[in-house]
Amino acid sequence: MQMAKKLIIGNWKMNPENFRAAERLARSTAKAVRAAKADVVVCPPHPFLGMKLPKALRLGAQDLSSEKDGAHTGDVSSRMLSSMGVRYVIVGHSERRASGDTQETVNKKMKNTLSAGLVPVLCVGEEVRDDHSHYLHVIREELKSALKGIPKDTLTRVIVAYEPVWAVGRSAAGVLSPEDALQMNIYIRKVFADLAGEIAAKKLKVLYGGSVDAKNAGGFLTEGRMDGLLVGRASLDAKQFGAIVTRANG
Ligand code: PGA
Repeated sequence: MQMAKKLIIGNWKMNPENFRAAERLARSTAKAVRAAKADVVVCPPHPFLGMKLPKALRLGAQDLSSEKDGAHTGDVSSRMLSSMGVRYVIVGHSERRASGDTQETVNKKMKNTLSAGLVPVLCVGEEVRDDHSHYLHVIREELKSALKGIPKDTLTRVIVAYEPVWAVGRSAAGVLSPEDALQMNIYIRKVFADLAGEIAAKKLKVLYGGSVDAKNAGGFLTEGRMDGLLVGRASLDAKQFGAIVTRANG
């Protein structure tokens, strides 16, 4: 049986500083991943979505509006993203949740993403790992509320990115072990099967995100059996991102 391709997503966050630098980063990233067997996506900031995209890369967005259209100054709709060639949208990233996205907002964003024919990369993750496994409850609730009211046949398109908040970013308090990644992978699949049914659960890709680098990427993909990775900081360095993508060559 042919192994499913891994999916490696670079989340550039609010970088780089201008349009030309974004095109440069896209070019060097494409060069660094040209031998990739994985699918590679980059998510630049919204103003850079119109950049020239090398063929080796697919386009993702970091966020979208919870509204469909109309008087929402500063917002960007799912249909606008689709018209720019975007295929994936990160939904419910912890940095958006910290800026005010509620469970209800995330649910609306999921619906908008799916109704525009795009693929949502739904981020879930606990803020702390407690000793009483409350964090499992947090993950279940985030999944449940994000998927609420979405028809099961549409849920086959959903990707879940497990990003423990404590492991995300420069000031990360630590990095998840591959064993814990595997445990969470299994748990997310189980909860997703309960909510979305077996068919969607079989198709589900679960990604890991949070301080991924060239050193730890292999462990998440092999021991953690993750279907891919969501990479922040390391995606701004084409060489390092290329090395991460190489780990997904199987
Ligand atoms: P990081 O970010 O790799 O810099 O921890 C990951 C993310 O926030 O998606």
